[in-house]
Amino acid sequence: MSSIETKDIVVVGAGLMGHGIALECAVAGHRVFLCDVDGSQLDQAMARIPGTLRLLSSAGKISDESIPAILERVTTTRHLNEACAKADFAIESVSEDLNVKQSVFRELDEACPPKTILASNSSSFMPSTLAAVTFRADRVLGTHYFNPPYLLPVVEVVAAQKTSKDALAKVCNFLRGMGKSPALVRKELPGFIGNRLQTALMREALFLVDQGVAKAEDIDLVVSQGFGRRFAAAGPFAVFEAAGWDLALAVASQLLPEINSEATVPTVLRDKVARGELGMKTGKGFYEWSPETATEAQTRIARVLIGLEKLLEGS
Ligand SMILES: NC(=O)c1ccc[n+]([C@@H]2O[C@H](COP(=O)([O-])OP(=O)(O)OC[C@H]3O[C@@H](n4cnc5c(N)ncnc54)[C@H](O)[C@@H]3O)[C@@H](O)[C@H]2O)c1
Repeated sequence: MSSIETKDIVVVGAGLMGHGIALECAVAGHRVFLCDVDGSQLDQAMARIPGTLRLLSSAGKISDESIPAILERVTTTRHLNEACAKADFAIESVSEDLNVKQSVFRELDEACPPKTILASNSSSFMPSTLAAVTFRADRVLGTHYFNPPYLLPVVEVVAAQKTSKDALAKVCNFLRGMGKSPALVRKELPGFIGNRLQTALMREALFLVDQGVAKAEDIDLVVSQGFGRRFAAAGPFAVFEAAGWDLALAVASQLLPEINSEATVPTVLRDKVARGELGMKTGKGFYEWSPETATEAQTRIARVLIGLEKLLEGS
């Protein structure tokens, strides 16, 4: 595999994911241009980043003294062409709208030098649909992060139809160099790996609630205090290597005819959204939230993820 010494990174979209990806690149020592059409999003991102750096510092992942230099490595701009002149790698993380993403890719293709690899953090659009609007399809691919990107190491690196092996290798090396774990998706398909698996789980979880089998909190308990804990240490294939594929066959034969296989969105989910019960952002979902309990729950998740990472590093 070839290696890349990436120094100049452009992150387009300064929202929830983009600001986290930008801060992680800056922590790793890269110079980052963070771009957004909306100046207030840039201001918000720069207001959020110090708090996240302090969280990383309290977890021992970075030192307090390194924070000013990390912040200095991030430059914000509303003008993409200003950011791209020296870019080694551009990561698009704008709103999930194909027209918007394609227009960003056209702009990036025009503004970036030929060496720049263009990546999309899209959760649902195939990187080929973005490569198609550029003149560098061999250097376009998907890099699908998980939220929060600075606490979850995996990135799905998605090969589009024309992505070169060289571009895939460079991006995987770049990510490994930052301590990330690239998972290669060799053929693009909707949902890649993670969202397909999570959607399969969510369909059954919603079905169980809808059928009155269990409440959301009990389903959450089974996952977070049951098999979810095991999954932090070993994925489903590794788990069944230990349990035995004969057991997997017995369970699959018994349960596959039983579990929900509807291709339509579950009514219980449609009804929730129709009632405006969107979760933390509206104060109610399957649980009730105040701004304080929502912040507490999110901080707790971040702390558990940090603790888990430390534990896994030592294992
Ligand atoms: N939220 C998640 O958990 C998650 C996880 C993985 C991947 N993703 C993907 O990441 C991408 C961004 O999601 P998010 O949750 O950060 O969204 P967000 O709404 O928080 O941020 C999107 C940002 O894009 C900016 N934007 C819109 N049009 C733009 C343009 N033309 N040029 C520059 N900036 C523009 C918006 O101003 C906004 O700041 C989406 O493709 C999403 O599917 C999200």
